[in-house]
Amino acid sequence: MSDQEQVTIVYVHPWTGSFTHAELESVKQTLDAKNQPYSVIDLYADDFDPIMRANDLSVYGNGDFKDPMVGRYIETIQKTNKLILMFPIWWLSAPAMLKGFFDKVFLANHIINFVDKEPVSHTAVNSAMVLSTSELTNDEMFKGYDGSVERIINFPLESIGAKQVTWHNMGDIIVAKRPALEAYLKQIPEFVNAFVDDGVMEEA
Ligand SMILES: Cc1cc2nc3c(=O)[nH]c(=O)nc-3n(C[C@H](O)[C@H](O)[C@H](O)COP(=O)(O)O)c2cc1C
Repeated sequence: MSDQEQVTIVYVHPWTGSFTHAELESVKQTLDAKNQPYSVIDLYADDFDPIMRANDLSVYGNGDFKDPMVGRYIETIQKTNKLILMFPIWWLSAPAMLKGFFDKVFLANHIINFVDKEPVSHTAVNSAMVLSTSELTNDEMFKGYDGSVERIINFPLESIGAKQVTWHNMGDIIVAKRPALEAYLKQIPEFVNAFVDDGVMEEA
C-alpha cells in the first residue's frame, strides 16, 4: 500500500549546515531504503518568491496564478498523499518562505476551495508530518501561546485534506548538546517509517 502512495517533502531552510538539513538527509535515506517514491520541494534552492505581488493577487480570486513555479508546485501537491513539512520555528511560526508557499500555491480550483466556509480539497493529501526545530522547549512551544503555533501550521494542512497531522519538534535546540541532537536524529527513521506505513488511506 505505502509504496503506491506519493510522499512530498516541502523543505524550508536556506543553510545546509542546519539541523533541519541533517534531518532532511535522514528522511531521504529512510525513504530510499524502503523504496518509497517521493518528491522534494526545496523552496530556497528553487529560489521561490514567497511574496504575493499585485499581479498575483489580481488573478487570485479566480484561482489563477502568474508565477510559473506555482503551477509546478500545484501539480506535485495535487498528486501527494503524504506531505512532510520541514522548517525551523521563526517568530513562533514558519519562515516567511513557507507562509508564502501556502499563500500562493494553495489556490482555489487547484488545491482548496472553501464552500460555505468548509474546506473542499482538490488534492490526494491524507496525512501530514511536520518536522520542526525551535529554541523553545516542546512544552513551551506546544503548551504555551494557547496552542497558536500548531494551529497556524495545522490549519492549511488540514484544509487541504490531512486527516492527521503528526508533529515532531527538536526543541531547546540552542542549548542542546551533541548527544541529544544525535539521539534525536537517530529517531528520524522511526518517525518516517511510522508516518509512511500508517494506514490512513486503508481506513478511509
Ligand atoms: C529569524 C529567527 C526567528 C526565530 N524565532 C524563534 C522563535 O520564535 N521561537 C523559537 O523557539 N526559536 C526561534 N528561533 C530559533 C530557531 O528556531 C533556531 O535557530 C532553529 O530552530 C535552529 O535549527 P536549524 O539548525 O535547523 O536552523 C528563531 C531564529 C531565527 C533565525
